[in-house]
Amino acid sequence: MNDLNNIVAQFITEGRVESVEPLGSGHINDSYLVTTFPESASDYVLQRINHGIFTNVPGLIDNILKVTGHLGEKLVYRHAGYSTFQVIRLIPAKTGHHYFHDSGGNYWRLYNHVRGSRSFDKVATTGLAYEGGRAFGIFQSLSSDMDARSLFEILPDFHNVASRLVQFREAVLLDPAVRAEEIENEIAFVETRSHEMHAILRLGELGKIPLRVTHNDTKFNNVLFNANNRAISVVDLDTVMPGYVLFDFGDAIRTGASTGAEDEGDLSLVNLDLNLFEAYSRGYLETAGKFLNTVETMYLAFSAKFMTYLIGLRFLTDHLNGDRYYKIGFPGHNLQRARAQFRLLLSMEEHFSEMQEIIRKIG
Ligand SMILES: Nc1ncnc2c1ncn2[C@@H]1O[C@H](COP(=O)(O)OP(=O)(O)OP(=O)(O)O)[C@@H](O)[C@H]1O
Ligand SMILES: [Mg+2]
Repeated sequence: MNDLNNIVAQFITEGRVESVEPLGSGHINDSYLVTTFPESASDYVLQRINHGIFTNVPGLIDNILKVTGHLGEKLVYRHAGYSTFQVIRLIPAKTGHHYFHDSGGNYWRLYNHVRGSRSFDKVATTGLAYEGGRAFGIFQSLSSDMDARSLFEILPDFHNVASRLVQFREAVLLDPAVRAEEIENEIAFVETRSHEMHAILRLGELGKIPLRVTHNDTKFNNVLFNANNRAISVVDLDTVMPGYVLFDFGDAIRTGASTGAEDEGDLSLVNLDLNLFEAYSRGYLETAGKFLNTVETMYLAFSAKFMTYLIGLRFLTDHLNGDRYYKIGFPGHNLQRARAQFRLLLSMEEHFSEMQEIIRKIG
């Protein structure tokens, strides 16, 4: 822990460091909780940034500074409402940057720790789903008057279905791991839906939906809750960049409103939970409903299908390529993940008119 103490000492902090302990179940960055003395001083979250995935760390930090600066200013000085909502702050290093580059080539950053907060890996109740929707809605509302183009595109073409399909078709053709023959059904599943899945891309090109500041990792454990289970902050801002709000909504439903795990092997356990869908949508639209345009609102239900398709497509592509991108726990893991996504998509297709009706009633 001595090394970690030395890293913390590179930042301008309050109080005396008492302990540095591993934090959370995140698997992108390494996170540590830094507790300090006295009690009144802020605690911190130290993170080693995964610069294998995020190759432009100064660009990433600059995006986070712009967004947290904008949100913080609106909450504190412009009385934007949402009285319990907080924005995490990057702590400056003694060098003047908001990150520290160590002699081993690692990049580190420090955030203030949101006092008394916790996160949940699973959405256990409709009450929590409502709060999750509310939190991402607040995040997007507060950033809705920012120029999204002022942000750097951290992961170019992250949600571009056209280029994801090009990669997929190339993997089918080249078949480097000799797996294409055994997944003909899944390949056909992807191809039958490929045309309709271009809808969001087309709406963007036609100017019907604007580029906005989007979070791009709207998993439930990126929302912080207080002791009363009210959402009070949103974390994990690495992937904040210009995008369509539909990506954030869709991925939150894909990850938060499924009855099965992302890699569930028993497909009969994977379904869309319409109650969680409704609760998340209510929380989301209560806050985001004020700035969304009609086309964005109209495509919310579709966005859940789209994100489920897109992530399933990426798992399947990685399976064809011999598991190069996603870490696997056992042979065939990526195929199992793809199948679970496609099963969830089937469930959404089955309930699509109900999903649309729910959005219509709320919105
Ligand atoms: N500023 C903060 N205050 C309080 N808790 C925090 C803060 N930042 C992170 N956490 C906690 O640490 C966890 C991991 O942080 P974070 O999501 O930033 O890491 P990650 O490695 O990118 O995660 P993942 O791989 O799950 O996306 C969060 O889910 C949250 O519980
Ligand atoms: Mg996270």
